[in-house]
Amino acid sequence: MGHTTAHTQASPDAQATEHEQQRFDAIIAADQRIEPRDWMPEQYRSSLIRQISQHAHSEIIGMQPEANWISRAPSLKRKAILIAKVQDEAGHGLYLYSAAQTLGITREEMTQKLIDGKARYSSIFNYHTPTWADIGAIGWLVDGAAICNQVPLCRASYGPYGRAMVRICKEESFHQRQGFEILYELAHGTAEQKQLAQDAVDRWYWPSLMMFGPSDDASPNSARSMAWKIKRFSNDELRQRFVGMCVPQFEALGLECPDKDLRFDEATGTWISGPLDWDEFRAVLDGRGPANTERLEHRRTAHEDGAWVREAAAEYARKQRRGERVAA
Ligand SMILES: [Fe+2]
Ligand SMILES: [Fe+2]
Repeated sequence: MGHTTAHTQASPDAQATEHEQQRFDAIIAADQRIEPRDWMPEQYRSSLIRQISQHAHSEIIGMQPEANWISRAPSLKRKAILIAKVQDEAGHGLYLYSAAQTLGITREEMTQKLIDGKARYSSIFNYHTPTWADIGAIGWLVDGAAICNQVPLCRASYGPYGRAMVRICKEESFHQRQGFEILYELAHGTAEQKQLAQDAVDRWYWPSLMMFGPSDDASPNSARSMAWKIKRFSNDELRQRFVGMCVPQFEALGLECPDKDLRFDEATGTWISGPLDWDEFRAVLDGRGPANTERLEHRRTAHEDGAWVREAAAEYARKQRRGERVAA
């Protein structure tokens, strides 16, 4: 028997890989987690690096449109809440960069790609925030869409990513509530304030639906990510779920949904939105949005301005390692 298979037998290396692949497949099938030291297919690793680093960059760039209003928040309380929220986003970026680092890329490499304009981040953050009501609309719609997207990611098959998402989601729900509350107050204020809220919602509604990414048939990575249990639902499923959540909230706010073609489908019990402007989505993603240049420029300057902090921290760590006394 043995000699008949000898010629077709794979090399020891290939055999080992096949064994590892089987183990990987079994972990995925059993809904258990892949951890940093486990063997994983190269494409699984690279697609996670892409997804997690894009996600981290989005958190960091996403601080800018809101930070724009910290100094102009209408009260001390609003200012404190907004500062806390923007700081949370910095924290989300850090958890996610750390999760990506477990896959063999450095924080420096990721940051460099971002400031060189070679990495993507969520196109939503390339829009401006002209009024205070935009801060409400971002919290309600953008953080709301983020929650819809991210809750299923808490069960992502890659351990460090899933665990980071658990904490992030808890904080996102506070963000969503504070945005809703800003809009609620405005929508129940003077006619002028209500108009401010409506205009901001009109600006952010469609871009927030685009946050879920292209339609399923135009999303090449989706199917593979679902097979690997990184993603659990398709872009369109999540988008429609979000729309369904917004409908009663629009009513509570007393604001109008800008989608005039929105309809309820009795057969499936879901809300179906009108057509999205994918040309706009692609333009913003390709760097032609209202604030792309400004966002990257700001990030680049902040990175350069922070060089001395990174050097000082590294020097401090080096001295500690060598057991040198560090002056307080
Ligand atoms: Fe966040
Ligand atoms: Fe958030």
